[in-house]
Amino acid sequence: MPIRPRVLHVAPEMAPLAKMGGLGDVVQALPKALRQIGLDCRVLLPAYPCVLGNIEKHQLPLRRLRVSVHVSLEWRVFSARILRTDLDGVPVYLLEQPELFSNPSIYPMDLNESSALPFAFLSLAALELPSTTRWRPQIYHVHDWPAAMLPVALRWHRHYRKMGLGVDTVLTLHNMAHHGILPEAALLGLGLDPASFGMDGLEFYGQVNLLKGGILTSDAITTVSPRYSWEIQTKGGGMGLEGVLASQKRKIRGILNGIDTDIWNPGTDPVLPAQYGAESPDGKALCRAALLRRLGWEDDGAPLLLWVGRLVEQKGVDLLLSSVDKLVGMGCRLLVIGSGHALYEDGLRKATERLEGRLWSYIGYSEEMAHLAYAGSDLFLMPSLFEPCGLSQLIALRYGTIPVARAVGGLADTIIDADGSQKGYGFLFSEYTSEELVQAVERALAAHADGSRWEEIVRRGMSMDFSWSNSAMAYANLYLELLGVEASDLKEH
Ligand code: GLC
Repeated sequence: MPIRPRVLHVAPEMAPLAKMGGLGDVVQALPKALRQIGLDCRVLLPAYPCVLGNIEKHQLPLRRLRVSVHVSLEWRVFSARILRTDLDGVPVYLLEQPELFSNPSIYPMDLNESSALPFAFLSLAALELPSTTRWRPQIYHVHDWPAAMLPVALRWHRHYRKMGLGVDTVLTLHNMAHHGILPEAALLGLGLDPASFGMDGLEFYGQVNLLKGGILTSDAITTVSPRYSWEIQTKGGGMGLEGVLASQKRKIRGILNGIDTDIWNPGTDPVLPAQYGAESPDGKALCRAALLRRLGWEDDGAPLLLWVGRLVEQKGVDLLLSSVDKLVGMGCRLLVIGSGHALYEDGLRKATERLEGRLWSYIGYSEEMAHLAYAGSDLFLMPSLFEPCGLSQLIALRYGTIPVARAVGGLADTIIDADGSQKGYGFLFSEYTSEELVQAVERALAAHADGSRWEEIVRRGMSMDFSWSNSAMAYANLYLELLGVEASDLKEH
């Protein structure tokens, strides 16, 4: 009998409805790719005000179901109306609970008993959903700590552990930098058994660690690149959870993220003044001219280096700020798009004043500007301290903008050094130092100066397939393994 596995993705972000980082892009693209290969994937998302606003902006359908879910937390019952929309053919259930889901930046500055409630509610409401929607997931696929309480509840929650739902759980680790740490006192209000507070449970240096709980209790764990799956089991890489991860290594696998090639396609991108592709690269020069005009710069032939990303420690902003003067001294121009930590934003503003005409920064994010910048730049800088997968280097490659990146996590998995291999299409460095970054840019500039070699590098980069199709298949296989069915049983679609 052909089957169509039912999988509910549970996450606080899904682009373009609610997005703070790459997780939102994955939750948009992965369920869509899985549906295309015959799985019934759906998403549960909180109805933050921005979500409702974006539904209107993108003119998506919105239905208020005549049902609600109820979850008790902190000795109160919280209820949410279920709304439903569809995004690119993916059914999305929304939890309308304005009291809990009001934070415009989604994640709280300080996590404590009350600021954790929205995430606990999201996790537990997912378990209540089948009783109201008539749609029963066989697998709950949860993303990062905000939804990690779901598998935890199936083992340690006074009510849900008895529910005998017979479901499987998958936890995807997008970023080990955030664990979801709460005081021990939070346990009871969340409904969790105090006995779960031990070394083999939720306890972590005297506090509750939700991600640790998710790692211990989920049936399978994925990381967003193969290399990150072992980096996190080594000292420092797991941010203190390396031992716990190593103890669970049999259930961990690394599956590379992809990018949505419908959205990121220089061959059809409506934002660009000219479309182009690996075999017809000419339009890129027009995009470069348009970008320079937009920045108010004459084209003096200087290579244009691009940075797009959150201005946070992980992304290597320290290296960027300590290298900009040298990079400009080498004849480069730089464009930085991003926002983040106030200290870094400030540093960037100062550097922009100092290097007027050579450094341009856009503090914030503009989708339109990002598309033009990916298309119009020559090199893409990504000197991350650590990088679980990284999506922007994949977008840059598709747009023929060659990455100079640190060889960590997903960057090392997706970029081949052009000096190290005939097949290469990027420039990698290993030590987290400004000297190494600058040297890698020097190597890239040397290649850039050699016209025909550069054309080849760009062509190879643009021809790489970083779409979701292979990765979606890897996730589908994992689900089928959990359900104990053969891939050939997958319903024809
Ligand atoms: C996080 C990681 C990034 C990854 C993204 C999506 O933002 O920092 O490397 O690409 O999640 O999985």
